[in-house]
This record gives sequence, C-alpha cells and structure tokens, in this order.
Amino acid sequence: MMSVRFDVLTLFPGIFDSFLSESVLKSAIDRKLVAVRLYNIRDWATDKHHKVDDTPYGGGPGMLLKVDRVVPCVEDVMRETATALPDKPRLLMFTPQGRRFNQRWAEELAAGGQEGQGGQGQRLVLLCGRYEGFDERVADILQPEEISVGDYVLNGGEVAAMAVIEAVMRLVPGVLGDEDSNRFDSFSSGNRLLDCAQYTRPREYRGLEVPGVLTNGNHAEIERWRNENSLERTRQKRQDLLLHTYENER
Ligand SMILES: C[S@@+](CC[C@H](N)C(=O)[O-])C[C@H]1O[C@@H](n2cnc3c(N)ncnc32)[C@H](O)[C@@H]1O
Repeated sequence: MMSVRFDVLTLFPGIFDSFLSESVLKSAIDRKLVAVRLYNIRDWATDKHHKVDDTPYGGGPGMLLKVDRVVPCVEDVMRETATALPDKPRLLMFTPQGRRFNQRWAEELAAGGQEGQGGQGQRLVLLCGRYEGFDERVADILQPEEISVGDYVLNGGEVAAMAVIEAVMRLVPGVLGDEDSNRFDSFSSGNRLLDCAQYTRPREYRGLEVPGVLTNGNHAEIERWRNENSLERTRQKRQDLLLHTYENER
C-alpha cells in the first residue's frame, strides 16, 4: 500500500491540532494512507532558556532561527526517517524566496510514494520558519528544496506546510472516495486547464437554470460541453495557463 509520511518541524506544533483531527486528513491518517509527525524545534535547544532565535548580525529588525538549533533538529529527524523507512526522505524548507509550489510539484511529491516508482512510502520532511526566517547557513548546510506557497509573506511556515500536506495527500490513491475526483481538477496533469463549471440540485434557482446538456443523459455531449467549458473559462480567468506549459514553469 502506498503511503506518504510528513515530518513537520515547527516551533508551534499546536497549530496543527485541529488540522490533523478533522475531515479527509483525519480519515486518511486513520486508514494509514498518510502519517503526520510533529517535532518541536525547541526540543533541540539545550540551554536553560531553550533559545531558538537570536538577533541578526549587522543589526536590523526581528530575530532569526539559530543554525545550531535547526540543523541538529533536521539531521536527527532525517536520520530517524532514513533508518526507519527505505525511501530517502526529501527535505522541504518553507521560505517566500523558494520555488513556487504548484499542482505539478504536488503530483511529483505524491508519486514518490507509489509502488512501481520504486517507492515504499514517500517521506517528506517539512521545515517551518518563524520570525525573520533562518540563519543563511541552515540552507548552506542542509541543501533543502526551498519552497514558497506564493509571493506574499506569512508569519511562519505552518500554514504553508498545511497547504502542501493537503495538496499532496489528496493525490494519494484511496484518500478521496472516488479515484477520479482529482483527475480533472484545475491545473492537474490530467487536465492542465481550469476545471469546468459544475452544478447540483435545484435545477433552477433565482431564474438561473443548469445548462440543459448536463441533464439530457448524453455522455458524449456532456463530455464535449465540459471540455469546451474548461477551455473557455481558462481563457477568461487564467489565460497565462494557455500561454505557457507547466514544463516551462519549472
Ligand atoms: C515572516 S517570514 C520571513 C520572511 C523573510 N524575512 C523574507 O522576507 O524572505 C517567517 C517564515 O514564514 C514562512 N513563510 C512566510 N511566507 C512564506 C511563503 N510565502 N511561502 C513559504 N513559507 C513562508 C517561512 O518559513 C519563513 O521563514
């Protein structure tokens, strides 16, 4: 059985409490399709005050995460992950300066755990920053994949880690009830366009009717309508997707 394990390194593990205990993710964890382990970086602070941050050399606002706390923490978790499980863990470090996360990357991360790809279970170590970020030597030493969830700045990497966990876990076979349900999702490699418009009951609401083709039972016509709708709404909302391929983006 395929599985993905996320090892999340954070200063605020409590942020993940309800995230892990609700809905699809909870069910995937219960069914052992996905595992999430939380590690508090502060546990690697051996001094009396459990200090994990310090002021930047040269001055300036805010605090930086200390290299001599973060590096041993990551190395211990990577070592534990590597010995417990056969597949080499991948280290992702959250930073707004990293490569932009997208559906293609999520697919690649999920695929690493699939049988037939040589994987027995993908291990993703997710390193969340806080404050002004990391001492530069953290990246120099660990050589992580630097990952951003967009061109804006969050207080910490936790929300970004949740976005990555959700995007990856829903691609693990068995996690969603219907195996087809993510095949046509926007941006996915099975689609590459935006998903088409969807409707459910009632058939008419405030004068707005569901397109007749969707209710006539002709599957070939429905398929054609969906493809055309997908293309049209991509042209209207996200023309950039038509102008360059995902390959060019990476
Ligand atoms: C306030 S931010 C630090 C920003 C840093 N001073 C900069 O300008 O690049 C603190 C932490 O939040 C996380 N973070 C913030 N925005 C992010 C984004 N867009 N993508 C991924 N992680 C982000 C990172 O882990 C970062 O170390």
